[in-house]
Amino acid sequence: MEKIASTDHPVLEILRKRWSPRAFSNTEIEKADILSLFEAARWAPSCFNDQPWQFIIATQDDEDNFHIMLDCLVEKNQVWAKNAYLLVIAVAKITFRTRESGNRHSLHDMGLAIQNLMLQATSLGLYTHAMAGFSVEKARENYEIPDDFQPITAIAVGYPGDPECLSPDLRKMEFDERERYPLRDFLYEQKWGKSFLS
Ligand SMILES: Cc1cc2nc3c(=O)[nH]c(=O)nc-3n(C[C@H](O)[C@H](O)[C@H](O)COP(=O)(O)O)c2cc1C
Repeated sequence: MEKIASTDHPVLEILRKRWSPRAFSNTEIEKADILSLFEAARWAPSCFNDQPWQFIIATQDDEDNFHIMLDCLVEKNQVWAKNAYLLVIAVAKITFRTRESGNRHSLHDMGLAIQNLMLQATSLGLYTHAMAGFSVEKARENYEIPDDFQPITAIAVGYPGDPECLSPDLRKMEFDERERYPLRDFLYEQKWGKSFLS
């Protein structure tokens, strides 16, 4: 199902196309395409080129591992994410690899890598849905994630499914219009709060 963003100004078509559905089909994603997603993430820019992104993945082909990852999600996300073929937990290295200090840009750079992954997915006819709703503690425990790495986001990835399979409340959200604040609310000049578009 498509939900093309109706933008106020022209943007790349792929940005208009990406959205976060909850109706996924469990159709297999070719391994080559899975690798392309993470290759796209790999080429994100990062502070000092430190590349703080790490990913743990589970596919429906490996039922046991899939359930271990699914179990990290909150129930509200499990109910729909269980249908996606691929689940991902994105983990940031919060200290620099090459210097002795914390990397306060690691979450920023993780976000850039994830957006690369998401847009690559869109170009492959796949959909993605990021989730804050997962247990960081469970992820840490299940995957023995060291202290200087922080689980940031879980992501469901898959081909589109039938919205009729969703519960009525989720189905409604699936058809809700996509909304964003207008540019005048966040694009300033001269001083904080003075809109560039006034
Ligand atoms: C970091 C992050 C965490 C999110 N967490 C959840 C979540 O736990 N559950 C959920 O259903 N959607 C989650 N979302 C999806 C957002 O609600 C969605 O991206 C937003 O409403 C904009 O919709 P769009 O992606 O379709 O444009 C999350 C998105 C991001 C980027």
